[in-house]
Amino acid sequence: MTEKKNPGCDYKAFISRYPEYETTKVLDELRAKEYPRLDLEDHVYLDYTGGGLYSELQLEQHMEFLKKCVMGNPHSSNPISAFTTDMVELCRQRVLRFFNASPDEYVPIFTANASHALKLVGEAYPFGEGDQFLLCYDNHNSVNGIREFDRARGAQTRYIPIIPPDLRVMEPTFERFLDEGSSAKNKLFAFPAQSNFSGVQHPLEWIEKAQSKGYEVLIDAAAFVPTNRLDLGRWKPDYVALSFYKMFGYPTGVGLLLARKKALEKLHRPWFAGGTITVASIKADKHYLAPGSEGFEDGTLNYTSFPAIEIGLDFLDSIGLEVIHTRVECHAAWLIEHMLEIRHGNGRPVVRLYGPTDMKLRGGTVTVNVYDRDGEWIDHLLVEQRANQHNISLRTGCFCNPGAGETALDLTKEELIDCFDQPDARMSLKEFRQCIDSKSTGAVRISVGLASNFGDVSAFLEFLEKFRED
Ligand SMILES: Cc1ncc(COP(=O)(O)O)c(C=O)c1O
Repeated sequence: MTEKKNPGCDYKAFISRYPEYETTKVLDELRAKEYPRLDLEDHVYLDYTGGGLYSELQLEQHMEFLKKCVMGNPHSSNPISAFTTDMVELCRQRVLRFFNASPDEYVPIFTANASHALKLVGEAYPFGEGDQFLLCYDNHNSVNGIREFDRARGAQTRYIPIIPPDLRVMEPTFERFLDEGSSAKNKLFAFPAQSNFSGVQHPLEWIEKAQSKGYEVLIDAAAFVPTNRLDLGRWKPDYVALSFYKMFGYPTGVGLLLARKKALEKLHRPWFAGGTITVASIKADKHYLAPGSEGFEDGTLNYTSFPAIEIGLDFLDSIGLEVIHTRVECHAAWLIEHMLEIRHGNGRPVVRLYGPTDMKLRGGTVTVNVYDRDGEWIDHLLVEQRANQHNISLRTGCFCNPGAGETALDLTKEELIDCFDQPDARMSLKEFRQCIDSKSTGAVRISVGLASNFGDVSAFLEFLEKFRED
C-alpha cells in the first residue's frame, strides 16, 4: 500500500466545485455547538441512513419540559392525563404541519417505528383472492414482509425489476406492471421515496400514476425525510411510513403512519387492543373500533417522547430542510466523484459504486464494494473491521434490502434458490454467505446527513486511499 496525496481532501477545491456549500455554513457552527461529542471522541459518523444524530439542544429542551411538566397515561379526564392527551394532540398537529398535510385529508398515527407503520397497513389491507401487492425490487424488508400477508389471503405479489448500474426502474416497465395488475379489485403499490441501498429517489410522480389505475399507494419515506421535504400538499400518497430517529436521532421508539382518510377506512384491523376500541364486550362477543388514529394505536403511546418529536421537528425547521439537503448533496457528490477516481497502480478502480454516479434524483446514501489490484472484491466485513479501527462508523451487508442487493451484486435466482434449499429450515447469515462464496453477498454503505462535515467525507476518502496498491 502506498500513501498518496488525496485530492478528495482538498477543501478549497471542494468549495470551488460546490460554491453552494457556503450557504450551509450554519451547519458547521451547529456541529461544533450541538454535536461536540463527535469531535471530542474523534468519530467519523457515516451511518445516517441507519440513524440520525440528536443535538444537545434537543435533549436539553426535552429534559426541561419533562422536569417542568407532569405527564401521565393519556385518555382520562384527570388533569395530568388531560394535559398529556393535549400534548399528544399538539404533536399530531405539528406533524401534519411539518409535512404540509391537511388535517381534513390525512390522519397521523403514531407507531413504534417505520416497520410497525408498514405492518399496520400490510396486516389490515383487504387483500383477497386475485388481489395485487405490487412493489419494486428496491425495498426494505419491512415492506417486503407485507407479501406474507397478501399471500396468506390468496393475493399475488409482483416485483418490478430495477436495472443496474443505476438501480432504477425503467418507466415503461413500471407502466406495464401497473397495467397488468389493474383489473384486480384491491391493489396496493409500495415503493421507497429513497432507497436505503443505493440512495436512488424513485419518482414521486408514480403516486398519481398508480392511483389513476386504481392502486392505493404506500410510500416508505424512512430514508427520504431526514434530508428531503415531503410535501403532502403536493404529493398525495395513501399511506406514508417513517421513523423519527432517522430524522433527528431522538427519540427512538416512535414512528409514524400518515394515512389518507379514505385509505384508512379501507383498512380492516385484524385485532383490537387497549386504546383501539370505543367498546368491547366479552358476553356479547363484539367490539367497535375507535375512529381515526386511535383505532390503530395499540396500547399506551410512548407519551413522554412526544414533546421530543415536536422539539425535533422544530429543530429541523430552524435549520431549514433545504439547507440540510444542499449540504448532503454536496458531500455525496464529492464523495462519489473522488472515490471513483481512486485507482490502483495498474489503473484498476479501488471502488465499485452501486447506483447513480450523479446527484439527479438521489440522496446521500452511497453503496460500494472495494477491490484489490487484481479486481477481486475485498470482503465488506474486512472493510468494516478496518473502518472500525479508524473510528469510522459505516454499515455493511445488504441493509435489509435484499432486492437491491441481489440485483447490484448480480446474484441469480438459481443461486439464491439453492441456498434456500438447504435442509435446515433456518440459515444464519454466515451460512448464507458461505453458500454463495464466490461472490460478494453484501456491500459497504456510507451515508451522510445533518451533522456531517467535510472532515468526515475526506476522512473516508483518505481511508479508501489505504486500499490502493501500486
Ligand atoms: C428505507 C427504510 N425503510 C424502513 C426502515 C425500517 O425502519 P425502522 O427500523 O425504524 O422500523 C428503514 C431502516 O433502516 C429504512 O431505511
